[in-house]
Amino acid sequence: MEFEALKAALAATPHNVPLLVIVGKMHEDRFELAEARACFDRVLAVEPGHADAHLGIARLLDLSGESSEATVRLESLCDRQPNFAPAWLLRSRIALDEGDAAAARAFYDTAVDLDRSLADDELLQSILKAGGNKRIAMTSTGASHEETEDDDDFPFDGLDAVAARDLSIEFRVKADMKFDDVGGMEKVKDDIRMKIIHPLKNAALFAAYGKKAGGGVLLYGPPGCGKTLMARATAGEIDAAFFSVGLHQVLDMYIGESEQKLHKIFELARKAAPAVLFFDETDALAADRRDMRQSAGRNLINQFLSELDGAQANNDGLLILGATNAPWHLDGAFLRPGRFDRIIFVPPPDAGARAEIAKIHAKGKPLVDFDPADLAKRTEGFSGADMRAVFEQATEAALGEAMRKGSLVPVSGKMLAKAAKDVKPSTRMWFESAKNHALYANQSGFYDDVLVHLGLKK
Ligand SMILES: Nc1ncnc2c1ncn2[C@@H]1O[C@H](COP(=O)(O)OP(=O)(O)OP(=O)(O)O)[C@@H](O)[C@H]1O
Ligand SMILES: [Mg+2]
Repeated sequence: MEFEALKAALAATPHNVPLLVIVGKMHEDRFELAEARACFDRVLAVEPGHADAHLGIARLLDLSGESSEATVRLESLCDRQPNFAPAWLLRSRIALDEGDAAAARAFYDTAVDLDRSLADDELLQSILKAGGNKRIAMTSTGASHEETEDDDDFPFDGLDAVAARDLSIEFRVKADMKFDDVGGMEKVKDDIRMKIIHPLKNAALFAAYGKKAGGGVLLYGPPGCGKTLMARATAGEIDAAFFSVGLHQVLDMYIGESEQKLHKIFELARKAAPAVLFFDETDALAADRRDMRQSAGRNLINQFLSELDGAQANNDGLLILGATNAPWHLDGAFLRPGRFDRIIFVPPPDAGARAEIAKIHAKGKPLVDFDPADLAKRTEGFSGADMRAVFEQATEAALGEAMRKGSLVPVSGKMLAKAAKDVKPSTRMWFESAKNHALYANQSGFYDDVLVHLGLKK
């Protein structure tokens, strides 16, 4: 089914808002601006506040050279719906076109802070070239300070360019996601509620039972199954400050200074307590890894342990969240009581979760004959990242066909099914390794959940 068919469907259901948005965008892509405008106007007649329709009209205005009118619309859209990231991104483009690089940078940062998937390296580079090289960064004290970047000394691109600047020392995550944005995984969410959210929310109650809010929780499981995603969503579910640190970054960037930096990171988080301090790729804290460039030295490990113990400082209200797909690399000392003593297994999504994940990845795409449950059936053993790959492949197929035909072709259920056949599930390998560890090195039941998942234990 293609454009004509979608138009026919629209004729049959003239007030179908999602369809109007898709057809409007298709008109826009073919530079049929008047038709596109008519579609968006019809959306607004049904739903006056519809953000995508307002955004579409702003794009059309910009395309036809009426950028100041586009800006007026966008300003009021951003006032009403400040969390609608694409509007900020379009403002950034327009500001750049108008030669206001500083504003373009500020709008760009706002957009990407709200939705990291909007990171656009090309746009960012253009902004930097035009002189928009100041990022106003929020520090943990809430004060803002300016940082100037040196174009020649620019080791990151895109998303990383923006994130890395704040990352290794002070990387306070904006709560841009919630559990609803993570498909399925109800058990993991419940675990996180019990082990992280309730203790932080009810600190006084926990104290009455002699329990402190805080301590360490480790998420582990196969790659691409949502550990990092889950941690970000946790940030959105709590009122506490959330700091995220990629350990490899600490290591790579500050060889020799790592211990000091780590201490500063902990201090920053303690000051902000109640706070969650998230260490992704915790397996970097492994002494016995062959890949030493990517792993911490003994000194850093000892530093981390003493920070965890709160040896020189008070860790009240500080929750340490770790994530790893190679828990067997982790130094056993980390798993002792008072350290990472609560362990959460993040398994691959089951069929229900895969259907939910499919719906999340389908959002905003022109789709026909899309049956999430059917796709879930075809993707046994797939991780969330594998699911995303299926959508990417199917989208490429649709694009290829669109280019051949010279018109827009929606992604079909058939294309998704074909992509599901081509993408190979990536979690099997992980379970091969995990099984050995679970069977032969299952100290204090660490891997029990893995064994249950494999049906080797009840
Ligand atoms: N439950 C889910 N719902 C929606 N998307 C998901 C889900 N799980 C994974 N994904 C998709 O897969 C991508 C990879 O997930 P994520 O980075 O969280 O995996 P991970 O467990 O941290 O993997 P790694 O061990 O490799 O770091 C996500 O960015 C997201 O697009
Ligand atoms: Mg991860």
